[in-house]
Amino acid sequence: MWHGRFSKDTAETVQDFTQSLDIDWRMAEADITGSIAHAKMLGATGILTPEESAKIVDGLMKVADEIRGGSFKPSAKLEDVHMNIEARLTEIEPLGAKLHTARSRNDQVATTTRIYLRSRLRALRENLRELLRVLVANAERHTDIIIPGYTHMQQAQPVSMGHYWLSWFEAFRRDLRRLDFVLDSLDECPLGAGALAGSTLPIDREMTSELLGFSHPTRNSLDTVANRDYMTDYHYFASVFMIHISRLCNDLITWNSQELGFIVLPDDFCTGSSMMPQKKNPDVLELARGKAGQVIGNLVDLMITLKGLPMTYNRDLQEDKRGLWSSLDTVEAVVKIIAELLSQVDVDEGLALAGLEKGYSLATDVAEYLVMKGVPFREAHMMVGRLVGWCTANHVAFEDMTLEQWQEHIPEVDAAMMDILSVRESVRRRNVYGGTGFEQVRRQIEEAKSRL
Ligand code: ARG
Repeated sequence: MWHGRFSKDTAETVQDFTQSLDIDWRMAEADITGSIAHAKMLGATGILTPEESAKIVDGLMKVADEIRGGSFKPSAKLEDVHMNIEARLTEIEPLGAKLHTARSRNDQVATTTRIYLRSRLRALRENLRELLRVLVANAERHTDIIIPGYTHMQQAQPVSMGHYWLSWFEAFRRDLRRLDFVLDSLDECPLGAGALAGSTLPIDREMTSELLGFSHPTRNSLDTVANRDYMTDYHYFASVFMIHISRLCNDLITWNSQELGFIVLPDDFCTGSSMMPQKKNPDVLELARGKAGQVIGNLVDLMITLKGLPMTYNRDLQEDKRGLWSSLDTVEAVVKIIAELLSQVDVDEGLALAGLEKGYSLATDVAEYLVMKGVPFREAHMMVGRLVGWCTANHVAFEDMTLEQWQEHIPEVDAAMMDILSVRESVRRRNVYGGTGFEQVRRQIEEAKSRL
């Protein structure tokens, strides 16, 4: 394409080293979409005649057909998807030589990438919404099931399993907002920025922007070809999403262990062992947790590539897509498989409650009961803490103690307290907005549904 300036062809080793076809060929259709808009604009502005423009558009559609039909065999000698398509167009239609008028690959690459990324992210958005729906459905299925709530991985207070699912609804809903921010961040059309400074030709940037479904053209041509913020925004969204997935998976892996065992995973989402006949391993959850590292790595990879790059385009930027595809593929796969798996997770409430018998998870309930009797909270905390110490040393559970025994340790206790000493009462009574009380969980479910 540039042999006018050179006395020799590019060395083969250099062609191999500089080609980007292996990473950008997947954007072929998006590139043609951008070129069709550009060709139409060139015709509408009189830079090309309407006939020339129409013939180029026609040629581009033929190239698109060849790509869809699989007969187009691109060559890495032509460096990238953009030059392959233009070269094939010009073979079919010699007027193809006029397509690159008032355009550089720098604005073309930025446009193509935004179009392609936009369509992948719109699809991803739907899958993320499906995950949110599954979480709400799980919350409905499991509202009345009680599990131990943990802090420091130590039993803290009993909670509704529905409340637990809704905690992830909140996290993934924030991810959805971050995803919407990415879609907003890429919603500007780079076409017309040229190599870096715009064009001397009377192009119509509003027109191409509108034809391609962007809100407006980018505002500064230098920034246009240097900017990859929409990609770092994507990677940040993806990284936080994967951190959430990883933590969720880790909970389920732990709760699925024999020691706790109150999570039951569907057989068809688990794998066995080649040696140990008894095994049913949570590999899907482990892999999702494991893949988080690559996605976060891709964020760091791009940030390091960008850091210190001079204004404006530098060839380093060609490397931006490798991590982007890897992360998109991972996030798409993870969001789908985790939604499917979660919709089939069951809870063994017997085991969850059995686990709760070993702890003193109602200690706060007792202290708060004493507060209602007028005992200052700090004193109540001390009294109950001492009792827990005594119970632990003597292997006695709260549930095993008679009223008389209670009163020996804490004289303020009366018969009415015995009625609150159950995990179900404990959950039911946490009836504050955002709390785990069954009534509140039902209310959160209704809110979640309307927010969806
Ligand atoms: N294949 C390159 C890319 O994907 C094209 C960039 C062309 N620009 C340039 N100044 N060489 O980024």
